[in-house]
Amino acid sequence: MLQDLQPLPVDPILGLAAACRADSNPNKVDLTVGIYMDDQGVCPVFEAVKQAQRRLEAEEVTKAYLPPAGDENFNLGIQRLTLGEASAALAENRVSSIQTPGGCGALRIGAEIVHAAAPGARVWLSDPTWPVHIPLLGSVGLEFQTYRYYDPETHGVNFDSMVQDLKEAVVGDVVLLQGCCHNPCGADLSLSQWAVIADMAEQQGFTPFVDFAYQGFGDGLEQDAAGLRLLVARLPEVIIATSCSKNLGLYRERTGATIFVCRDPANARAVISQAQVAARRIYSMPPAHGALLAGRILTNDHLGGIWRAELEVMCQRINSLRSILREALEVRCGGDYSFIEREKGMFSFLGLSAVQAQRLRQDYGVYMLDSSRINVAGVNTRNIDYLAESVSKVL
Ligand code: LMR
Repeated sequence: MLQDLQPLPVDPILGLAAACRADSNPNKVDLTVGIYMDDQGVCPVFEAVKQAQRRLEAEEVTKAYLPPAGDENFNLGIQRLTLGEASAALAENRVSSIQTPGGCGALRIGAEIVHAAAPGARVWLSDPTWPVHIPLLGSVGLEFQTYRYYDPETHGVNFDSMVQDLKEAVVGDVVLLQGCCHNPCGADLSLSQWAVIADMAEQQGFTPFVDFAYQGFGDGLEQDAAGLRLLVARLPEVIIATSCSKNLGLYRERTGATIFVCRDPANARAVISQAQVAARRIYSMPPAHGALLAGRILTNDHLGGIWRAELEVMCQRINSLRSILREALEVRCGGDYSFIEREKGMFSFLGLSAVQAQRLRQDYGVYMLDSSRINVAGVNTRNIDYLAESVSKVL
């Protein structure tokens, strides 16, 4: 039965990270997968997570299954973090959520619900988008349309083209938006642009599905949620896929949630019952450990305070790396790299061709995606000069 199966090409992101790990070049630079790294090149465990872990060890009395919607405390905490303490939708009890295996699980459960509600739904994806959106949502059976988003000339959002393309989105369609820190381009919508998208959703009747994996890495936890919260304040229905991988550093614990903002409480209950059945069909119930930690942090003032301060330091570090990287590239390579400073979160395109990105890997051990997407958090005081010099050599 299995003998004719052939190996598939490696994942374009994870495969490159593995290739970098295997590279013996002492100067190698890993700018591949989107994880936060400190100046030592280490992806650290948050102090708040360590403290929550100690509390959990003292309090935990069972390893029995979590319920299919996951840990209640976690769901409460993640809803408040995402929608804000003052959210009217929360006060109106028309929000439900399901804990999922990471942000990928959240996207998949969201897609399952879209498919259950509207099997012919088309999902509008930004050009470019995170490549995994396509298999994650497509394997449910949804069709795709693309809207123009990033302009490589200006290194910003081509909003006029985005609006022009989304004029074709209709009732029953889903528009996938990234809440902040766009992956892969780092170019985000302004608040007034979010308001235009809200107007269009209202008038045309499409449903926004917001992938929100990087809250806290752009301008801060509250600022990064402003666009998403504007949609939620204006529209009867919004689907949100959120993740604790990055902002709580719980990558390997697979901790995320799909949040459904619905028309009324009865609808929120119906949607969550559908989500639980969808989860049962795929993986039954979510992993516990990360959510038990995140729930303790998000609903406790002391642990929450420690965590917010730690995240703030990471966010500021990324923003200062953006400034020093801009300067290093401008000094070594000439040209204008100010876009790196304007963009948000972990990712930016350096604007290189695939051939140049491949030369950087082969000749200098500098690993970025073929699209020239870099993880800015992989830059540090030891590798920044080498990185800028290597880039100058392939230009
Ligand atoms: C990335 O884009 O590098 C991250 O979202 C990690 C992943 O799973 O690809």
